[in-house]
Amino acid sequence: MCATMGSARGFMKISSAFLTSKSQLPKPRRHQMDTLRNARAVSSTPFPEFADMPGIKSHEDLRKFSLEQPDLFWGKLAESRLVWQQSFDKVSDCDMANGYIRWFLNGKINASVNCVDRHLKDRGDQVALIWDKDEPGTEEFYTYRQLHTMVNKMANVFKQHGVKKGDRIAIYLPQSPMAVAAMLACSRIGALHTVVFAGFSAEALAGRVIDAQAETIITADQGVRGGKFIELKKTVDQAVEKCSCVKRVFVYQRTGGDVTMGKLDIPLDKEMSAASEECEPVMMDSADTLFLLYTSGSTGKPKGVSHSHGGYLTYTSVTFKHVFDYKDGDIFGCMADIGWITGHSYVVYGPLSNGATTLLFESTPVYPDPGRYWETVQRLKLDHIYLSPTALRSLLKSGDTWVQKYDRSSLRTLGCVGEPLNTEAWEWYYNVVGKKRCDIIDTWWQTETGGICISPRPSDPGAEIKPAMPMRPFFGIDLALVNEKGQVDEGDDVRGALCIKKPWPGLATTIYGDHQRFIDTYFKPYPGMYFTGDGAHRKNTYYQITGRMDDVLNVTGHRLGTAEIEDVLDDHPATAETAVVGFPHDIKGEGVYAYIVLKDGISTPFATLDVEMKALVKNRIASYAVPDVFQYTPSLPRTRSGKIMRRILRKVAANDTDQLGDISTLADPDIVKVIIKHSKKAKKACDKK
Ligand code: WT7
Repeated sequence: MCATMGSARGFMKISSAFLTSKSQLPKPRRHQMDTLRNARAVSSTPFPEFADMPGIKSHEDLRKFSLEQPDLFWGKLAESRLVWQQSFDKVSDCDMANGYIRWFLNGKINASVNCVDRHLKDRGDQVALIWDKDEPGTEEFYTYRQLHTMVNKMANVFKQHGVKKGDRIAIYLPQSPMAVAAMLACSRIGALHTVVFAGFSAEALAGRVIDAQAETIITADQGVRGGKFIELKKTVDQAVEKCSCVKRVFVYQRTGGDVTMGKLDIPLDKEMSAASEECEPVMMDSADTLFLLYTSGSTGKPKGVSHSHGGYLTYTSVTFKHVFDYKDGDIFGCMADIGWITGHSYVVYGPLSNGATTLLFESTPVYPDPGRYWETVQRLKLDHIYLSPTALRSLLKSGDTWVQKYDRSSLRTLGCVGEPLNTEAWEWYYNVVGKKRCDIIDTWWQTETGGICISPRPSDPGAEIKPAMPMRPFFGIDLALVNEKGQVDEGDDVRGALCIKKPWPGLATTIYGDHQRFIDTYFKPYPGMYFTGDGAHRKNTYYQITGRMDDVLNVTGHRLGTAEIEDVLDDHPATAETAVVGFPHDIKGEGVYAYIVLKDGISTPFATLDVEMKALVKNRIASYAVPDVFQYTPSLPRTRSGKIMRRILRKVAANDTDQLGDISTLADPDIVKVIIKHSKKAKKACDKK
């Protein structure tokens, strides 16, 4: 039976039902800046938990303590920052060699209680979420009380349809309060959410749904971004055809666009309007998985990084407060989509567990024009903005007037994450956006680390900030650089593989369904330590990230496995083999360069093949994975043992062919000259487009 779900009567619009008009709301309290500064200047460390502890007078003391006594450090914070139904009896039990990571053992906790219920008494009427919808000026505000109602109703709807503790739910939603409510509703009933970025293709979505064996998908009729409608429901329909595990699809009406409702589809808004406002939270074991989030690795198959209730929540809560120096009443504006870990940790769990007001940004940095971020800052009076270097670089190119048009005096910290923030972008952020008034907080972390691990200033007002590096490890984060011999290098001005020596509560607990891959990827390369996959440089104790050391690209701040793209290109009927590498890209940080060897006898023009292959990658992965350059080559540089010498391909792609290093082990060294020659043409062809 099919029904059409347009703007049909009877379907309650969730947005208007839960909406509070701006004028009805008490403004979030705003701090007197002077009082704040004075308060900060006198406190020795901003952690009240350790204020009376003998021997802890400074940040340095606290840092030492956090490394020497991690259980005391994290135990105290977990206890005081979160609400536990039953307190834990042991702080940690970890064995990095086996990838065994457990925090706050036997503690009972629920993430939704910590993010919503606990705030009802003191700040029920405070704004929790500001939904900055695609069209500027159409924002909506949701208080903690309203969010509580949404979460409870949605959790009840899930239960009515048979969703149980331990089930996996895929969330494929636009950036919206309903998406946040969906994440928290899952956690309330102990279901694991796996949010899939709504820009991923049907195939990418299906792959994740199947890997997670999710029976439930939550989606919307359409998304809206940059003035365009995105057919989310249609994409889900295509994905579901490939997934026999899916039993139900909840559909939220974001736009009221016409969608066809099939057998598995359930109108979420309508069911919520009839559901009860009270849903008893399921108390979870601290080590139970809160969510999976798929991220690319160096093989073709994305991995479901798993995070726990107690550990993850403690780490995001503490880092949110101290990395950004968040003060009660501030408005935090993280521009990331909830489909990425940044959205999980610093749009949802970090801010809400602190009772903060957090922004949900639905649009793009350039809609309707490149002034959008700063217009949003002015309109909503953001105290903090947290964005990606890619966005910054593209805005920098658009010129200063877009920034200067708007009042940015509300801003206090300017954060960024996802890729190295180059000096030019740092300077622009500092001088032009922040008018030399704001702290630039370049944060390094990963999906696997749960929260920020390196950042300039964990709430230390006096600490110096240097351009273009995340600088200092967070409390409890014990960094090491490992040299080529596999030894930890203690020296200064050294480079090496970035590892973390001690476990911390934000560390992922497994790769869903493949614990061995978890061990092999992160704990085997340097036994006893967590290997990040990144290289880093340490000078004067400060860290700078030099880039990935594995076959993972970082395109616009998003991770992509080269193998993932190769798998797709290999499926084109004309290709014999392919090799994908990254190259430095002005805006995107890293661009995608694809070398293609065609099968014999293919006469299709290259331009046609380019178009077909681009479409293939877009349809199978996502737009951001589409290669920037295609180079057709008679063969690839292989060693005599058959291994592709990727170093050569990377150097050619980067125009860095003066010193190619030893190529004598190649089966056919002459191919290098051919590849270099053809690369000029390939790059020119792509520049024209
Ligand atoms: C990879 C993790 C964590 C949120 C977004 C990305 C790179 C991240 C920085 C930074 C240089 C950075 C690393 C890392 N990265 N932050 N401040 N400076 N590189 O999460 O998709 O898990 O990617 O992003 O290469 O390994 P992710």
